[in-house]
Amino acid sequence: MNSFDDLAPGQGESSFTDWMRSVQARVEASLARLLPSGEAIPARLHQAMRYASLGGGKRVRPLLAFAAGELSEAAPERLEVVACAVELIHSYSLVHDDLPCMDNDVLRRGRATCHVEYDEATALLVGDSLQSLAFEILARELPGGSERQREMIRLLARASGSCGMAGGQSIDLAAVGQSLCLPELEMMHALKTGALIRAAVLLGALCGRALSEGERESLDRFAKRAGLLFQIVDDILDCTSNTTTLGKTAGKDAAAAKPTYVSLLGLERTRQLAADLQQQAVEALGVFAERSRRLVELTDFITRRKF
Ligand code: IPE
Ligand code: IPE
Ligand code: MG
Ligand code: MG
Ligand code: MG
Repeated sequence: MNSFDDLAPGQGESSFTDWMRSVQARVEASLARLLPSGEAIPARLHQAMRYASLGGGKRVRPLLAFAAGELSEAAPERLEVVACAVELIHSYSLVHDDLPCMDNDVLRRGRATCHVEYDEATALLVGDSLQSLAFEILARELPGGSERQREMIRLLARASGSCGMAGGQSIDLAAVGQSLCLPELEMMHALKTGALIRAAVLLGALCGRALSEGERESLDRFAKRAGLLFQIVDDILDCTSNTTTLGKTAGKDAAAAKPTYVSLLGLERTRQLAADLQQQAVEALGVFAERSRRLVELTDFITRRKF
């Protein structure tokens, strides 16, 4: 696993790093508890689910959920549930994204991709099962029967499906070898990656007291900017970083003729756009003042990350 040490924002360095590590450890432990044991039948599928979900990943979506939870004074026990649900959907999306019928990648989080370590059929079923588990835990671990719980399940379902992540992935595959215009590219990124990032933020806030209409709108504005920013930085890293640092094969976008912000705008304009988006995202948080400190720090982390 890569080190986060050189990525702490300038202010309050150790405390952001400590906070990040404690959320990551907490999420790792609850994922390990929520995932079926690798000994339970069907053992191979359960082992592959654990392989794809544990021991790697920055856990950015859980971090966003916990940071957004600070806006509504949410209880950590509840944040843990939504953080794990979003992370399970994310892990599923990566397993499927790496399949030969999609991006055909052999390396993920510094290890063999799930279908390489196991086999394609298992990887397909891992994705299916992680997705089901995400909704099972929202249904089982949150206070049952409340309107809030229904809203959360709806939100994650919408963000994952054909009008969210899966829809964005479909556009991504159809766009291979094509040149998209900026609004098309923005929509693809907003769906394939932005939707789940946005869901992580909104779900985190929904774990606590109700926000005002104005606060919810501001938070949504932030979440949309942060989601787009995340994928734009992923585009930049794909063509500027290397395979060892990324833990996944660098240079794949150009090799696979994928339209990206870098292929459309060039590196410099894409970097400028990322900086603008970071600023807009942080501005949207102004209404929350000090309560949004972690979200501001995370936005900086998302912009400056090296992997
Ligand atoms: C990678 O996401 C896929 C994208 C949506 C760009 P992350 O960069 O969050 O991957 P992990 O979870 O840290 O491995
Ligand atoms: C991934 O986009 C989006 C999802 C997994 C939903 P990429 O295909 O660019 O992600 P990486 O670069 O393989 O992590
Ligand atoms: Mg992809
Ligand atoms: Mg990919
Ligand atoms: Mg990528």
